[in-house]
Amino acid sequence: MARNIRIVEVGPRDGLQNEKSSIPTAIKLSFIDALASAGLREIEATSFVSPKWVPQLGDAEQLWPALPPGPLYSALIPNAKGLARAIDLGVDRIALFTASSETFVQRNINMSIEQSLAVFADLIAEFRSRKPSGWIRGYVSTAFECPYEGWIDPRNTANVAKKLVDIGVDEVALGDTIGVAVPAEVAALTKIVTEAIPVDRIAYHFHDTRGTAIANVLQALELGVGCFDSSAGGLGGCPFAPGAGGNLATEDLVYFLERSGLPTKVDLYRLSQASLAIFEVLGRSPSAKSQLAQLSLSGTCPT
Ligand code: HMG
Ligand code: MG
Repeated sequence: MARNIRIVEVGPRDGLQNEKSSIPTAIKLSFIDALASAGLREIEATSFVSPKWVPQLGDAEQLWPALPPGPLYSALIPNAKGLARAIDLGVDRIALFTASSETFVQRNINMSIEQSLAVFADLIAEFRSRKPSGWIRGYVSTAFECPYEGWIDPRNTANVAKKLVDIGVDEVALGDTIGVAVPAEVAALTKIVTEAIPVDRIAYHFHDTRGTAIANVLQALELGVGCFDSSAGGLGGCPFAPGAGGNLATEDLVYFLERSGLPTKVDLYRLSQASLAIFEVLGRSPSAKSQLAQLSLSGTCPT
């Protein structure tokens, strides 16, 4: 059972990339500031992708230099142009992203899996030479199922995860992009992946489309995985993955870990305030169950 748990807050990136309207940079910054004040230490703040593909995150150049001090921030990088933009701004934690489904990688970054790995090998060499103490995550999306190809053989996911480690990423994040997985599948995938790479190099990125994410976290924890992604209030989704729901809500993850005796150092009340403020801007309510329960107890539950 993993005990030193890391939470990577992906709301500002995974959450806001999927909103129909663009959120002003100042509002993103106050959201991130509130997340930092709640005690979140690792925050995926934005992406350096093509603004034609994801206009919602087209303000990375304005956002990054204004990020509040404290947390470790990372950003998604798809190609050499994205890396150059990030390095110019002093970004020292990057996340590269591919998948175990050819169709999804094609739709998401217009490359094949092999092309993406070849591009990433060059990006990693460049990044390591410019930022010797930098940190690199590699995502494997559609780790369980693809919205276009259906069920994915866990051996394919393990194979891509191993190739990412071989080319030099520090951590592999296995993405349940459309939120289909159940614990038995998490156990099977974790077993196969840990035959290829050490368990302390694995993170899980669960979308909670079908309400299975917390059960999946428990399963992964029991198998020694200690890093989980989540987003405040359950924001999240992927514009290139039809059917992707929000990420596991950070409130639900924090509640579950704390109540299980696994300290997070995250202040649940402040986190809820951060979520409520951003959801108010978005004009809807957070989906975090622990938060809804709290609001309902205090008589302020949104209808
Ligand atoms: P492309 O169209 O093949 O790229 O897109 P291109 O090289 O032909 O360039 C097209 C135009 O984009 C050019 O501009 C480039 O300069 C520009 P033009 O000459 O037409 O004016 N361009 C860029 N501009 C700024 N920054 C860049 C950049 N690259 C090209 N980095 C590309 C290829 C990879 C760029 C595109 O497919 C892309 O940006 N994809 C991003 C997709 C994305 O962000 N998806 C969501 C994140 S992944 C996710 O959510 C899953 C995850 O959460 C895990 C999980 O849930 O499983 C991580
Ligand atoms: Mg995601």
